[in-house]
Amino acid sequence: MSKIFVPPIKSQGIKTKLVGWIGSNISSIEYSRWVEPFMGTGVVAFNIRPKKALLCDSNPHLINFYKSLQSKEITGAIAKKHLTSEGKLLLESGGDYYYTVRDRFNDLGNPLDFLFLSRSCFNGMMRFNRKGGFNVPFCRKPNRFAQALVTKISNQIDYISQIIEFGDYSFKHQDFTETLKELNSDDLVYSDPPYIGRHVDYFDSWSEEEEILLHGGLQASNAKFILSTWLSNQYRTNEYVFSIWKDCFISTKEHFYHVGAKESNRNAVYEALLSNFELKESIKNSEMKLRIESNISQLTTQKNGIVIPLQTTLNFEDAKVASR
Ligand SMILES: C[S@@+](CC[C@H](N)C(=O)[O-])C[C@H]1O[C@@H](n2cnc3c(N)ncnc32)[C@H](O)[C@@H]1O
Repeated sequence: MSKIFVPPIKSQGIKTKLVGWIGSNISSIEYSRWVEPFMGTGVVAFNIRPKKALLCDSNPHLINFYKSLQSKEITGAIAKKHLTSEGKLLLESGGDYYYTVRDRFNDLGNPLDFLFLSRSCFNGMMRFNRKGGFNVPFCRKPNRFAQALVTKISNQIDYISQIIEFGDYSFKHQDFTETLKELNSDDLVYSDPPYIGRHVDYFDSWSEEEEILLHGGLQASNAKFILSTWLSNQYRTNEYVFSIWKDCFISTKEHFYHVGAKESNRNAVYEALLSNFELKESIKNSEMKLRIESNISQLTTQKNGIVIPLQTTLNFEDAKVASR
């Protein structure tokens, strides 16, 4: 499998660990445009690298950032210069300068400041308060922007800039209901909405009503769609999979996360891809329901054999940058 590319912007909902799986599931699917109503950091699109894409989000800062790459207002070199000088002030201030940048960003919304905050805030989180202000605290590492990190971020920006430049990409700041209206039947739509009832912040809350609207809009578009969600953890099953999305196929992958330091304290979550067409290893939703009721494994995906779909990707000299 080729190396997964990590974008310059971070977020708690980032799908870096699932990109290979998503890519391999759609490796033989033909489509004319890739659409994401919830692009987030863009990690899925920038690894799938379709020739044509419509990437949208309700968070204006994410869209503004990628539009700035598209217009060349931000390049790898410009980001490097900015992070080097601002990083120096951060170090000299012992970390306090983070809050100067955060205030400035909340006043002016500069995309370079957004990048600075995303890469120096606590745990790479993205969270906005009720007034739409970025409110994540500092990661407490005054020397955050050491040269190696700045170079890495600058390369990540150059890599994405190439994808955008060589392809036909549109970025739109809009609600998913607007994106649904723009769908064509030969699109492939990857939807990664927030989980219902979680991640509640200014740009990122989600309700059952919205999930129903999303399902209805995707079905009505006649486009092929896939949707990321979770199926179950050790305590609960996501019942929306069997109500709102009951007419879909389902493919699952087991993901382990650790609670504390002990190797034995591992909890499994089944990540799910729901789709209105058969994926490589998907089963019918009704079959999954039967499996759960009969206590049969919820896993549909083989552990190996993940392949990024080359035929849908742009073709250019990216090997050096992509593997950084
Ligand atoms: C789970 S994240 C997507 C993560 C993305 N796939 C990634 O890997 O980075 C959900 C995204 O949906 C966006 N969002 C939330 N509500 C929205 C809405 N009503 N319309 C469009 N986007 C929305 C959030 O801003 C967030 O970026």
